[in-house]
Amino acid sequence: MVQGVVARGKGVPVELVTVVVPEPGPGEALVKVQACGVCHTDLHYREGGINDDFPFLLGHEAAGVVEAVGEGVEDVAPGDFVVLNWRAVCGRCRACLRGRPWYCFDTHNAAQPMTLEDGTKLSPALGIGAFAEKTLVHSGQCTKVDPAARPAAVGLLGCGVMAGIGAAINTGGVGRGDSVAVIGCGGVGDGAVLGARLAGAATIIAVDVDPRKLQWAKDFGATHTVNAKDTDPVEAIRELTGGFGADLVIDAVGRPETWKQAFYARDLAGTVVLVGVPTPDMTLEMPLIDLFSRGGALKSSWYGDCLPTRDFPMLVDLYRSGRLNLDGFVSEEIGLGDVESAFGKMHEGGVLRSVVIF
Ligand SMILES: NC(=O)c1ccc[n+]([C@@H]2O[C@H](COP(=O)([O-])OP(=O)(O)OC[C@H]3O[C@@H](n4cnc5c(N)ncnc54)[C@H](O)[C@@H]3O)[C@@H](O)[C@H]2O)c1
Ligand SMILES: [Zn+2]
Ligand SMILES: [Zn+2]
Repeated sequence: MVQGVVARGKGVPVELVTVVVPEPGPGEALVKVQACGVCHTDLHYREGGINDDFPFLLGHEAAGVVEAVGEGVEDVAPGDFVVLNWRAVCGRCRACLRGRPWYCFDTHNAAQPMTLEDGTKLSPALGIGAFAEKTLVHSGQCTKVDPAARPAAVGLLGCGVMAGIGAAINTGGVGRGDSVAVIGCGGVGDGAVLGARLAGAATIIAVDVDPRKLQWAKDFGATHTVNAKDTDPVEAIRELTGGFGADLVIDAVGRPETWKQAFYARDLAGTVVLVGVPTPDMTLEMPLIDLFSRGGALKSSWYGDCLPTRDFPMLVDLYRSGRLNLDGFVSEEIGLGDVESAFGKMHEGGVLRSVVIF
C-alpha cells in the first residue's frame, strides 16, 4: 500500500489516497518512483479530455529504481535506474513487423491492476501512474539509463520533453540549416526547440502568448520569439523567414486555431507537425485547395515517434555531457500532495514543469 494521486471524476480536484500495488507478475516490474513531472496530459485526464475511465492514477513522466521484477523479466533487474515510458513495443503487431516500432499498435502495460483499498480498479495515466511512491508497469516500460543522472530532469524524457524533441527530430526530420517554428512553448514546445537546436536548425522561432514562456524558449535555443497575443504569428514567421514561411512548423498547443497558424506559417512543400493533443470536440474547416496547393507534409507526432530503448539512453548521455539542457525544464520540485496546485500554476503559466520528488 502506497500513497498516490487519484482523479475520481471530470474536473474534480485530485486526491492523495491509499493505492494498493500488487507484487509484480510475469513480465511486470515494480518501480520505486523517485521523481515525476506534472504534464498537461495529466490535466487532460482529470478534465475527462482523454477518456472516461475514472478513477485515474495520474503521473507518467517519471524516473525511479526497479524494486522487484516478475517471472521471465530479463531486460531489467532490481536496483536498475530507469526512466518509465508508455511505448513498450510488442514486436509482433503490423507496425512492428513492418519495421516501424515507434507506431506499435499493441504496446505493453502491466497486466494486474492497481486498486483503491475497496478494490476499485485504477486506470493509470498512459499505463504508468507514477504520482505514487511505487507503481507497477510492464518491464518493457522501464528503460535503463545512466544512474548518475538527476531523476527530476531525466524523468521528463518519459513524456513531454521526449515528445517535443522527437516531434522536431523524428517526426519533423529537422536538418542542418532548416528554419523551424514552434507554437506553444510549454514543456513539449521547448522540447521541440531543444530538438531543433540539437539537429542544427539555423532559425528557431518560438511562439507563445506568455512572455515568460518566450524567455525560457530563448534559453533553450530559440533564435526569435513571437508573442501571439500582440503579433499575428503567421505574418511574423513569414517575415523572419524571408517572406516564405518556415520549413517546419510544430503545433505544441493542439487547437484548431494554432494548427491553422502552423499550416499557413509554413513554406510551400514544408511540414506541419501536430504534437499538442486536441480534445474530441474540436473541428477544423479549411479550403481543400489550400491543402493541395501548398503541398508538403501534414503529420501528427505520437510521443515524438520515439523508441525509448534507442532514444532515452542517448539523450541522457547528451544531458550528462552538458549538451542537452534538461535541468532547464524543472521549474520547481514539489511534494506528492501538491499536484492540484501544480495544475493551477501550469494554467497560470508560472512553470515549465513542476516535478514531484519522493
Ligand atoms: N503528442 C504527444 O505524444 C504528447 C505528449 C505529451 C504532451 N502532449 C500534449 O502537448 C500539449 C502541450 O503540453 P505541455 O505539457 O507543453 O503544456 P503546457 O501547458 O506546459 O504548454 C502549453 C503552452 O502553450 C501556450 N499557448 C496556449 N495557447 C496558445 C496560443 N493560442 N498560441 C501560442 N501559445 C499558446 C501556453 O502559454 C503554454 O506555454 C498538450 O496538449 C499535451 O497534452 C502531447
Ligand atoms: Zn507492436
Ligand atoms: Zn505527458
